[in-house]
Amino acid sequence: MANSSARQRASVHEHWSSKGGFLLAAVGSAVGLGNVWRFPYIAGVGGGGAFVMIYLLAITVFIAPLLIAEISIGRRAGLSPIGALGSLGKAEGGGRHWGKLGGFGIIIALLGLSFYSAVAGWTLAYIIEALKGAFAGLDAAGSNALQERIAGDPLTSTIWHALFMGLTILIVARGIRGGLEKAVNWMMPALFAIILLLVAYAAWAGDFAAAWHFMFAVDFGKIDARVIHSAVGQAFFTLGIGVGSMMTYGAYLDKSVSIVRSVAIIAGADTLVAILAGLAVFPIVFQSGLTPASGPALVFVSLPIAFGQMPGGAFVGALFFILLAIAALTSGIALLEPAISWLEERTRHSRRRMALAVGVVVWLIGLASVFSFNIWAGWHPLSFIAMFAEANIFGILEHTVADILIPVSGILISLFAGWVLSRESALDEIGAGDGWLFKGWRFAVRYLTPATVAWVLWRGL
Ligand code: PHE
Repeated sequence: MANSSARQRASVHEHWSSKGGFLLAAVGSAVGLGNVWRFPYIAGVGGGGAFVMIYLLAITVFIAPLLIAEISIGRRAGLSPIGALGSLGKAEGGGRHWGKLGGFGIIIALLGLSFYSAVAGWTLAYIIEALKGAFAGLDAAGSNALQERIAGDPLTSTIWHALFMGLTILIVARGIRGGLEKAVNWMMPALFAIILLLVAYAAWAGDFAAAWHFMFAVDFGKIDARVIHSAVGQAFFTLGIGVGSMMTYGAYLDKSVSIVRSVAIIAGADTLVAILAGLAVFPIVFQSGLTPASGPALVFVSLPIAFGQMPGGAFVGALFFILLAIAALTSGIALLEPAISWLEERTRHSRRRMALAVGVVVWLIGLASVFSFNIWAGWHPLSFIAMFAEANIFGILEHTVADILIPVSGILISLFAGWVLSRESALDEIGAGDGWLFKGWRFAVRYLTPATVAWVLWRGL
């Protein structure tokens, strides 16, 4: 086989102990703050139904095929994104430069982790607030003030950001079976259960009808290039595509596992959690007179109001934020792992040392995001660019990573899967036969995905 050298080198990496381990980790990577924090907030800014419809369409039609592509590329080479794209690029006659695309992905992942950790830090702080009973009797104003007390305080939020990065480093340092798999095994099912509970509560106590209307009534007049762009960006971000995470997880995967079936489960679970998060958040938003378009603090302001009113709310609230922190952690791990996986191939340092070194750098970059909510809140460093006129560093990073860099990387990975990877290799790796499914997949990665995403970026920027 053309890439036998790539396969031999695969032994540097530990493999998942089972198919279930892979699935949980991949779902863990996909499900995170992107679903519970970012989806409601971006959907709120994007006006609701129209955004949700495009988001769902994007995931099923041209983002899921990319997820299949990433896992297949990773598994075929058994290497980190740089190693996988580099070695397959050469083996398949695509030239020497594809490894750089893997490097691009790793850099995006680390940039993404920097602001991700800043927000994840808030979830940790909220666990303590819940346990202290700080949610009791909160109204919209009180909840805003609480959020301001945490995010608005540079020292407090720096410490929580450090704690989150510390936990991420700790788990990555312990490796696949010892750290990651053990962590996700019970975390994902527990998160799912508590979100269901929250939806039930929101349906009972909140304005569920308004929320339902907001999320699912499509006002076609609201669809413009900007809404399409942010929906597609969110679809990429929430599935964890374009940054090498899924490629890396694919590299640790045994050949016997069905990639298509796995992707259906990952994309299905991810979408379900996002929709449920919306159904938990928006009834409270409307009930309490908050605005859906209020921005990154939306979940942190709306849900504590609900926890403050429900019986046993301190406990349920603490549990919710524990699980959200865990969901964030399994995504943070996925963002750090590609870099470590590459270093494992390239250096002889211990995993522990590498995770610590990279993690500290990411933590330092993340301080810029932490300070965007306090001492640098009024600083709009790129105000001369129309798109960033109102954006602080956090806003710039978040928008650049999710809506520009990840889609660009996604287009390139799609082109690689469609044009560099031979038909035979793809057919063999995906292993679902040469039927309509494979043909549809190949059409998507060759034409549909790159062309649509390029058009969305072109119009939306
Ligand atoms: N998908 C994760 C979320 O929704 C974020 C993430 C992006 C994780 C990219 C891994 C890779 O929170």
